[in-house]
Amino acid sequence: MTGPTFEVFSLFPAAISSFLEFGLIGRALSEGRVAVHCTDFREFTSDRHRTVDDAPYGGGAGMVMKIEPVVAAMEAVEAARGPMHRILVTPSAPRFDQRAAERLASLPRIGVLCGRYEGIDDRVREAYVDECISLGDFVLNGGEVAALAIIEAVARLSDGVLGNPESAVGESFAAVSRGPWLEHPHYTRPPDFRGLRVPDVLLRGDHLEISRWRAIKACQRTWQIRPELRGTRVLGASRPLLLALDFRGAGEISQKDLAVQAARLGLPVLTLGPGSPLRDLKALRRSVRREFCGPTPQILGLSALETAPEILTQAGEVLDRLEILAGDQPDGSSGPLVLLLPCGGKIDPDVDACYAPSKTQAEEAGIELASSLGMIESSQPWPPGGVVYLAAAALAHLRGAPVGPKRVNL
Ligand SMILES: C[S@@+](CC[C@H](N)C(=O)[O-])C[C@H]1O[C@@H](n2cnc3c(N)ncnc32)[C@H](O)[C@@H]1O
Repeated sequence: MTGPTFEVFSLFPAAISSFLEFGLIGRALSEGRVAVHCTDFREFTSDRHRTVDDAPYGGGAGMVMKIEPVVAAMEAVEAARGPMHRILVTPSAPRFDQRAAERLASLPRIGVLCGRYEGIDDRVREAYVDECISLGDFVLNGGEVAALAIIEAVARLSDGVLGNPESAVGESFAAVSRGPWLEHPHYTRPPDFRGLRVPDVLLRGDHLEISRWRAIKACQRTWQIRPELRGTRVLGASRPLLLALDFRGAGEISQKDLAVQAARLGLPVLTLGPGSPLRDLKALRRSVRREFCGPTPQILGLSALETAPEILTQAGEVLDRLEILAGDQPDGSSGPLVLLLPCGGKIDPDVDACYAPSKTQAEEAGIELASSLGMIESSQPWPPGGVVYLAAAALAHLRGAPVGPKRVNL
């Protein structure tokens, strides 16, 4: 046996065993990779009517499951087959998730108590179980579905339960080095169903391109649907950071003023375009690379103009995206980060990612940061030539600095 043995305690054991006949879990059971025993609480009653429930003390609707059959059932099973990690499934408990499944997968024997009615007498929770688990923020009629969910999530982590062990690698919520993700989308034949086409990149067969596409899709999905999975992510203080003012197409703009303002953000400032030896992003990358004697820099376009092909508005997503792209570089490292400001109003499509803190965030963070650096009075509205304040906002977000006077910390 490679996985744990489950002991399920229920008033409807047949509901558990019938579900377990099917699919991969059914096969794992018949091959002896995991084992599930079901015990009926009613077998441990002592009265003629095999009573398992009684009215609640203090009154109120519904019945409560009695403590005696529950404890007697657990003790009899442990006496016969050995001790187990005892779990009570109940809505009033921490929610079950992939981390919990991984933790339980390392245990040899797991007991799951399924309640019915209003639940099991709370003295069981207080004195007879090791932990309580909820399936989610909703109420089921009984604990059997929760027990089955736990069994399936835990069992599929055991060797040999999944047909292809690779299937579990990189799945949603998996403990991968970058932290939990929602998985990328999947498609199969036909390539075109009533005009719904499978993305071309998957049909071309370039594996590097496909793995980058999948990583980016997983990143997008996670940030759109479950941003809290990624937690707070900030740019490491040791990562070299530069500003680049892109004056290509800038017209009348006062280049010197902007450069002076930008320098007050405390970062080295490069300029691109008229009067600069740096004509384009290629030259910019080359120059920064030479300067830092190492990895290719990443260039983050900053724009509130929404002219870029894809704009990211959350700092954490920007950092994830840059990390994915850096992972594809031959040296696998993340070099200096250049924040490119489009003083001419257009974002170069060759940037590695484009970041536009939302207008409100940008105003708040940019103005607070700029005022804390003495660049403007905090009462001043969003100033003209606001690209520098956009850089200030981006910087504040990427460094995880809270917005507010005197709290900005670069
Ligand atoms: C009707 S429920 C009892 C709900 C309980 N009175 C409450 O409001 O929290 C009966 C049993 O279903 C199971 N159950 C219901 N919802 C659950 C959930 N979200 N997670 C785990 N078990 C659940 C528990 O075993 C519970 O004892």
